[in-house]
Amino acid sequence: METRENKLYFGNISADDLVATHGSPLYVYEASKIRSAYHAITDSISYKPMHVHFACKANTHDGVMRILHGEGARIEAVSPGEVERAFTAGFKPEEIIFTCSNLTLAELQWLANRNIRVNLDSLGQVEKWGRIKPGSEIGVRLNQGIGAGHHDHVITGGPDSKFGIDIAQLDELHAAAAKNNLKIIGLHQHIGSNILDADIFMRAIDTLLETAHQFPALQYIDCGGGFGVPYQPTEIALDMKQLGKRIDASLENFVASYGSRPEIIFESGRYLVCESGTLLVTVTDIKKTPYKIFVGVNSGFNHLVRPAMYGSYHPIVNASQVSGGPETVVSIAGNICESGDLFARNRSMPPIQEGNILAILNAGAYGFSMASEYNSRPKPKEILL
Ligand SMILES: Cc1ncc(COP(=O)(O)O)c(C=O)c1O
Repeated sequence: METRENKLYFGNISADDLVATHGSPLYVYEASKIRSAYHAITDSISYKPMHVHFACKANTHDGVMRILHGEGARIEAVSPGEVERAFTAGFKPEEIIFTCSNLTLAELQWLANRNIRVNLDSLGQVEKWGRIKPGSEIGVRLNQGIGAGHHDHVITGGPDSKFGIDIAQLDELHAAAAKNNLKIIGLHQHIGSNILDADIFMRAIDTLLETAHQFPALQYIDCGGGFGVPYQPTEIALDMKQLGKRIDASLENFVASYGSRPEIIFESGRYLVCESGTLLVTVTDIKKTPYKIFVGVNSGFNHLVRPAMYGSYHPIVNASQVSGGPETVVSIAGNICESGDLFARNRSMPPIQEGNILAILNAGAYGFSMASEYNSRPKPKEILL
């Protein structure tokens, strides 16, 4: 994506031309950005064996999943539907790892029948799995009391989190596993999403490695996802090279004391696809009230819920006229029948006219995958460049 002749271009084609061809609202994904994000992780962490599983809840576009598969990624899934999508995109059962709270017995059975590696999330799941597949090998998700993330809703560790088996219940976990002769061969944790603080990340990994000593037969340790990306202009990107060095040091240190070399898994969602995605919308109305200017567009929180749901900031560019003229403070509003349907509140923007195409950036993760047909409006189209 770049600016040429004051318009936003994706390679050789302008956003205006993409919308002229495909219509709007339109999600545009750039394959090159997905590939470079994947390699930013794999080039930074030298520990082996190590696998990056794409947390496809972030984006289940078939082409996106196929690109990541082609680069060597595996899949992290949280529902049978995601497993099916992974199969369609060419992933094999052994390339998928699954974690989800509050599964039904039928869902656990479905996973067991397909030989999917599952990180069991509760003592109840361990007990049910034991009935379904006594004597089998299992992974378990732990809650070690450490959580982080960009919003309360995405902090998945700590006393208020519904996820994982609490670290204080390890004796009960071992007893529940022993009841049906289950062997714990995997540990999992995921502390939250969009973490830009490397120190919190390292604290969580080091704590998990410490706990791992209480599980003598581990074949894998799954450190979860959470690598963040900057959305606000003031946020600083993770230094992946630096973080990779710290992760390597902790893992090698662990291996020396643990006595074997388990596979390490990272379940990255946002980091791999966020910056690859742009939502193009068309300006349909400009309303100047005595108090505010509302720039209205033909999309809404049914297509990108993050601003309404988390108060998230997304950079927005006038793709038809990137700069020029004095900036004005406007709110960018969607067409959904709720007053919280704003993509941006009181944002300083260069001139915008009806018919312009606005590009909502960093929309590749938790964008289309969280879209709905609320207000009976169809979901937007997606294209992969
Ligand atoms: C269990 C699990 N793994 C991985 C992820 C991916 O997180 P992120 O997109 O922040 O990398 C999530 C996100 O919610 C998750 O719940």
